[in-house]
Amino acid sequence: MDDIKELVIDIKSPETFVNNILDQIDEDSDWPLAVNPALIVDMNNYNECVNRGRNVVEMIVERDLYALNILDFGCGDGLVATEMFSRGASSVIGYDIQKHRFWRETEELTLTTDWSEVVSGAPYDFILLYDVIDHIMDEEPHQILSKLKNLLAKDGIITLRCHPWIARHGAHLYTQMNRAFLHVLFTQEQLERRGLNPTPTRKVVHPIFTYNKWIEKAGLKVVKEEKIVEPVEDYFTNNELLKSIIQKHYVDSHLKEYREGRGDLSKILSFHFVDYILKK
Ligand SMILES: C[S@@+](CC[C@H](N)C(=O)[O-])C[C@H]1O[C@@H](n2cnc3c(N)ncnc32)[C@H](O)[C@@H]1O
Repeated sequence: MDDIKELVIDIKSPETFVNNILDQIDEDSDWPLAVNPALIVDMNNYNECVNRGRNVVEMIVERDLYALNILDFGCGDGLVATEMFSRGASSVIGYDIQKHRFWRETEELTLTTDWSEVVSGAPYDFILLYDVIDHIMDEEPHQILSKLKNLLAKDGIITLRCHPWIARHGAHLYTQMNRAFLHVLFTQEQLERRGLNPTPTRKVVHPIFTYNKWIEKAGLKVVKEEKIVEPVEDYFTNNELLKSIIQKHYVDSHLKEYREGRGDLSKILSFHFVDYILKK
């Protein structure tokens, strides 16, 4: 808190002040971390990504994958799909809009950017969207969910991990600068000036409301909803300047109390992820 308290003195222009704070965040800063450093995976290291793939499946996939036909939508490096295949699935397709250099296919494990291959592999018993839906910028999320619903087997399920923009690590800046809420508190321009490039992310400021709207519009039903939350530090909620910058993201909120600055920001800022199990 000390570095901000000192800077708060004599502020004439909040914009200049905010730019100054970003320049002053260094290793010694009190600014809270976005992610526990022990949990950050080096995405260029193949073995670390293999381990991450295993951990993701262990954490998020609650069902036996034996003999299932599976789609990993937005599969990234393909190592979650590979791990699911190694657990006895009969066939796994990993689909993404871009190829990844870690992709290694086998006869029953397809990694592809070709949507027609996904369609011809349907129906799927299990579809995974892990940290994808918030990062889809070229189509509406409910349309993607609706397309996937049509590819689902009668008793199939979709597991959806949402990673809201308003989360402390929502735009994945932590591999570049591991400090919480940078993408919420600074503009794209300010971040870029500092050499930081956030992952393109939809601006979700009321996670549960927005995700439920996408799911409902897609005609899917919620079997389970789990919020992964952790209390946010006072550092953000006790500082009037930081609070006022966060508050600006709520000017168009559908909730009157948030529009008028009376909403519970601590609650909203505590979201890390929201996990869903969905069915037709
Ligand atoms: C944060 S990464 C997550 C990747 C992977 N699920 C994982 O956890 O390792 C988001 C992924 O969504 C992919 N993506 C973005 N838009 C997409 C779209 N319209 N269709 C499929 N994948 C998309 C990106 O290319 C990227 O690989």
